[in-house]
Amino acid sequence: MRGKFINIEGLDGCGKSTQVKLLARWLRSKGCGVLITREPTKGHIGKIIEKFLTGKLKIPVAAEALLFAADRLQHFEDEIKPAVNSGKIVITDRYTPSSIAYQSARGLPVDWVRKINEKAPEPDLTVLIDTPVKVSLVRMNSSRRLDEFDRDLALQKKVRRTYLEISGFYKMKIIDGNRPIGEVQADIRKLVRRCCS
Ligand code: TYD
Repeated sequence: MRGKFINIEGLDGCGKSTQVKLLARWLRSKGCGVLITREPTKGHIGKIIEKFLTGKLKIPVAAEALLFAADRLQHFEDEIKPAVNSGKIVITDRYTPSSIAYQSARGLPVDWVRKINEKAPEPDLTVLIDTPVKVSLVRMNSSRRLDEFDRDLALQKKVRRTYLEISGFYKMKIIDGNRPIGEVQADIRKLVRRCCS
């Protein structure tokens, strides 16, 4: 039986990783096979991405976008597709909408970023955990190291705006992330139940 492919999107610090873990735990308790994965990946292309996110490598913004798109295709082929074909529920922390939102916030035309990502197959469900930029920045400061993109308030604002603008095109289900963890999780589970039944 074919599994499902679920993508969780949102600003850095929106609570994605906590929500992904809770969702996986719940699905496993129901007997589902689950694969948690993320972009950028830890693969060959993901390692180059890590270098420019941490400021060790400077490359043109368009080249960054091409690397994210390439990392995504490799991710789908090597990890997502085989797991879905073996009946698992794959939950990825970021996929195509991250590229549209972040790379367009860095100055690239939305249409071009969309175009270079056209070959990436669509998930069965995409959830956007929407949080005001200030909320996500406070959460980030308290929880982890900041990379190049995290630090930039103006960029994060553009990212949020673009996410909301493209939500229709990418059929994203928007959830208000500015609430207690349990309430956000309950809403995500409702969407997943609908998608998996
Ligand atoms: P993130 O999920 O925040 O990783 P970490 O938890 O290791 O910080 O992703 C790293 C950054 O990469 C984040 O700021 C968003 C950015 N990003 C893009 O700009 N484009 C993309 O296509 C993806 C997948 C991520």
